[in-house]
Amino acid sequence: MKQKTILTGIRPTGNIHLGHYFGAVKTWKKLQDQDTPFYLEIADVQALTDNFHQPEKVRKNVRELTIDALACGIDPKKTNIFIQSMIPEIAELTVFYSNLVTIARLYRNPTVKAEMKQKKELFGEDGEGITYGFLGYPVSQAADITAFHGTHVPCGDDQIPLLEQCREIVRKFNNIYGNTLVEPEAILSENTRIKGLDGNEKMGKSLGNAIFLSDDEETVTKKIMGAVTDPEKLKKDDPANPDICMVYYYHKLVNQDYVDTVCSECKRGARGCVACKKELIASMLAFLKPIQEKRNYYLEHLEEVDEILKEGTENARKLAKETVQTIKEKMQIHYFE
Ligand code: TRP
Repeated sequence: MKQKTILTGIRPTGNIHLGHYFGAVKTWKKLQDQDTPFYLEIADVQALTDNFHQPEKVRKNVRELTIDALACGIDPKKTNIFIQSMIPEIAELTVFYSNLVTIARLYRNPTVKAEMKQKKELFGEDGEGITYGFLGYPVSQAADITAFHGTHVPCGDDQIPLLEQCREIVRKFNNIYGNTLVEPEAILSENTRIKGLDGNEKMGKSLGNAIFLSDDEETVTKKIMGAVTDPEKLKKDDPANPDICMVYYYHKLVNQDYVDTVCSECKRGARGCVACKKELIASMLAFLKPIQEKRNYYLEHLEEVDEILKEGTENARKLAKETVQTIKEKMQIHYFE
């Protein structure tokens, strides 16, 4: 039985919002407390597959994301944070694995297909403008995972097809070159998808319905005051249905102790929406406060952030080098001692 290793990745394309926090980061925090190696990859190379025209955006967000993660309580003593592009071994593995995957299979990947549809301005109406790099990013993700012998991958359900692709590559590699790699398993987050302020099934930066960890009081207030509530409730004392109200939905996330009261008062018509929103704003600001204090600390100590990234990357690279060495031997492309 191989040792358990947890690995996950995140694309540096924007700051962390509540969707990331409750959908992913909260799970990472639990996992980092287990006595298992935990690798967190800042996937800048993957981010470039659909942001190749915006290198400054990806660059800026590598540090921003790291600061957000640290502010949320990701502890560099427990979690090895590293930058993908600084581990050239991942790129090497990607090339080796690319022989084990058909183009047809990549086109059929549901996650790739869905993203292609969302990015018509980049890849064209029918995906005729899709790049080799974007189509192949699942192969690169398989390299991300296997370079560190990742056995468990915390992720959302949108990542399942990518993990399946990785498992296929692992099986094919092991069949041809001999048993070397392990097939990773997903650790699904409790709450994979956090709804947006507008009631959309997904909170997303590009959807304009997100609360960011870095949002200040004024922004949080404005966003929550505009959140979607039960449209049938017209007057303050009308009874309403909390299950379709986003204010109630976020009360459940940040105000667990009090949420039963919110629910019953809302149903009875004993809770006006404005007062309910004001309470949520106060709880949200209290939730964000310690995170923002930590964020500010790291913003003022950028050298510490860089040190964490450098150290994490150096550590991770050692392991990736060993993996590539083994893989080259198996593939018979090792020539000199
Ligand atoms: N594809 C992931 C995302 O879009 C990011 C990612 C890159 C990843 N490498 C990974 C996730 C390895 C899990 C494991 O969010």
